[in-house]
Amino acid sequence: MFTFTKVGKSDKNSFNFLKKTHNKILMKTTILVAGATGNLGGRIVKALLEQGANVRALVRHNSDESKVEHLKQSRVDVVTADMNNLEELTKACEGVACVVSVLQGLHDVIVDTQTLLLNAAVAAGVPRFIPSDFSTDFTQIAPGENRNFDLRREFKERLDQALIAATSIMNGAFAEILAYGTPLLNLKDKTAGYWENPDLKMDFTTMDDTAAFTAAAALDASTPRILHIASFQLSANGIAETATEVLQQPFKLAPMGTLADLSAHNQRERAAHPEGEQEVFPRWQQSQYIQSMFSVQIDTLDNDRYPDLTWTSALEMIKQLGQRGR
Ligand SMILES: NC(=O)c1ccc[n+]([C@@H]2O[C@H](COP(=O)([O-])OP(=O)(O)OC[C@H]3O[C@@H](n4cnc5c(N)ncnc54)[C@H](OP(=O)(O)O)[C@@H]3O)[C@@H](O)[C@H]2O)c1
Repeated sequence: MFTFTKVGKSDKNSFNFLKKTHNKILMKTTILVAGATGNLGGRIVKALLEQGANVRALVRHNSDESKVEHLKQSRVDVVTADMNNLEELTKACEGVACVVSVLQGLHDVIVDTQTLLLNAAVAAGVPRFIPSDFSTDFTQIAPGENRNFDLRREFKERLDQALIAATSIMNGAFAEILAYGTPLLNLKDKTAGYWENPDLKMDFTTMDDTAAFTAAAALDASTPRILHIASFQLSANGIAETATEVLQQPFKLAPMGTLADLSAHNQRERAAHPEGEQEVFPRWQQSQYIQSMFSVQIDTLDNDRYPDLTWTSALEMIKQLGQRGR
């Protein structure tokens, strides 16, 4: 409680400053992150803290202890819950402004567990939900062409029926995949592979850029249903040109076939390897991701929505890969 006998101009200013600071502390927004022990989830937690949020991390009883301890050491309020228990999940959601789901898995996680988390968020009166999409815009991809996107589409139908505002972050592929030795960039053969169209611009976003944008979107009281972002947009031609420039060696385009060829190949491989249905990333799923990347081109990005954010360039990314490869 502040008491003033005589209020001068400078006292008034100090009072207003104290009041504003006090309100800011009281009004600090709390965001719940489910999947905070994961690769992207951990980065989102870090970005949220950097952007001034209170973070509540939802972890499981059997989550990796060292990861949970790391969260506890980082000013995060860690809540352990049984992910099959609606009551416990609802309690975990109480008082938060947004639930960010960064879960990874198959139908039991992306559809079943996320649905329970969604129901808990609605029951707790949470205003907003960000689902674990973080992908190429699967709403523009035909059902059946990408198993993991089909799971996200199934969850989206439930999310769109729920009494909660939702926002999907569509970041294309993580830019780090350029280091994974896919045909997209072959540092050994010095080629940039493509299906169908060497000029189709694909979206690449680094995990850290995705995390920083997601944190800003989680703290934004009102966001559209889908936000498209990309650290950079690059075609196969652009990959070859950038690699040639940065690595100072000539990179050539490598035509890999049509998209219809790739789709047929993926369907054959999926049918031949049913054991992959129990894995998150069987080989045919990885190939389905590549097919999706060559199937969608986003014309307008939402990168400028939060002007404080900066974006990794294609030059920086490919330079880093070249340095690592030496
Ligand atoms: N666009 C791209 O190129 C790209 C690439 C990779 C990933 N992603 C997307 O990014 C998101 C996160 O992926 P990630 O690579 O960060 O995943 P990750 O490192 O495997 O982390 C997954 C998280 O989910 C939690 N989890 C798994 N099963 C669970 C369950 N049954 N109940 C509750 N929690 C569970 C894990 O918790 P525990 O620690 O308790 O196991 C962990 O925190 C996913 O949507 C994924 O598809 C996109």
